[in-house]
Amino acid sequence: MSFRLNSRFLTHNHRFIIYCLLLLLLIQPILFLTYLSLNSTSLFITETCHTNKIDTNNILDHSYSSIIEQRLNSVINYDTLNILQYNPRILCWIPTTYERLDRALVVHETWAKRCDRTIFILGGQRVEKPLNRTIYPFSIAYIGGEKLEKYNQLSEKVLRSLLYLYKRYINDYDWFLKADDDTYVIIENLRHFLRRKLSNTTGYYGFIAKIRDRSYPSGGAGYVLSQSTLLKLGSQILNKPEKRKLCRDNEAEDINLAYCLARINIFVTNTRDHNQLETFHPMTFEEHFLGKFSRWIETNSQFDQKQGEKCCSNFTISFHGMSPRDMKLFHFLLYNIQIARI
Ligand SMILES: *[C@@H]1O[C@H](CO)[C@@H](O)[C@H](O)[C@H]1NC(C)=O
Ligand SMILES: *[C@@H]1O[C@H](CO)[C@@H](O)[C@H](O)[C@H]1NC(C)=O
Ligand SMILES: *[C@@H]1O[C@H](CO)[C@@H](O)[C@H](O)[C@H]1NC(C)=O
Repeated sequence: MSFRLNSRFLTHNHRFIIYCLLLLLLIQPILFLTYLSLNSTSLFITETCHTNKIDTNNILDHSYSSIIEQRLNSVINYDTLNILQYNPRILCWIPTTYERLDRALVVHETWAKRCDRTIFILGGQRVEKPLNRTIYPFSIAYIGGEKLEKYNQLSEKVLRSLLYLYKRYINDYDWFLKADDDTYVIIENLRHFLRRKLSNTTGYYGFIAKIRDRSYPSGGAGYVLSQSTLLKLGSQILNKPEKRKLCRDNEAEDINLAYCLARINIFVTNTRDHNQLETFHPMTFEEHFLGKFSRWIETNSQFDQKQGEKCCSNFTISFHGMSPRDMKLFHFLLYNIQIARI
């Protein structure tokens, strides 16, 4: 009887030792890795084993998650470092009209100079009224057709502009930023954002609004297409007149473009920063900061808008609806005023 009890006791001890050894064998690589990286964690695990309160699930989960976390972090660091070495080439294109050239001039004199190339797009023909280049010293592309100047033709103007850019500049630039002549873009922050993105994969970015089943980037806040996106759009749709009907033409230009790109499986991605603060803004700085939100933004924006400091990422990229006067003020505040380090 006592023998059997003893044997049971021994068996129990044996089982326990075998269990412990097997466990050690199983978790040995993890322990080793964890020891290498996280001394405190490995001590914690050793202690747990000694005090015989083994919770395998916890140990495994903890070790795995810390290893995975480390791997993810190292991947992120590696990518960021890699991509940070590279300065993306940005082409900015800005649809405007003959009547608004003075506005375009302010855009040129403030932010647009900071793009690698800026092209203002007019619907008319070049020959009609030659411009005085001393007064308007910026690049203008004429994409033909007076009737394109009407607002309801903006979709057609945008598609033709994209075809024009595709034919001429597809190989020379990594990103194609569309902005309006009342959009203010902080190009340095756009560069900062794009350095972490790959231009050789499809995708485009902006302030996301929603209509029915479709997310689209607010045209006013500006949106930026990767080179691969324009390549695919140009070669698979814009270059083929019979395919153009894949793009809707009965809505605003930004919505139509989103439908068009969705037909070739390209979808817009949001541009909020890691604190979930917006970088592209479809209204003016004042409106965002003071929370004077329009009905459009209240009902259509993908995320709830915040006012005050949370309105805008510290690395904000754009504001929209800016008058030439506001642009000049904003520009001066951003680039001229310095904070003395005392
Ligand atoms: C262009 O504008 C400048 C500055 O106003 C003026 O001096 C020049 O004569 C103009 N040139 C032509 C060809 O009109
Ligand atoms: C895109 O570019 C990156 C960085 O230059 C490169 O590592 C990657 O292989 C490229 N991807 C494709 C799909 O070409
Ligand atoms: C934004 O910048 C301000 C001033 O430098 C700083 O106090 C704040 O913490 C920053 N916000 C975030 C979310 O990084």
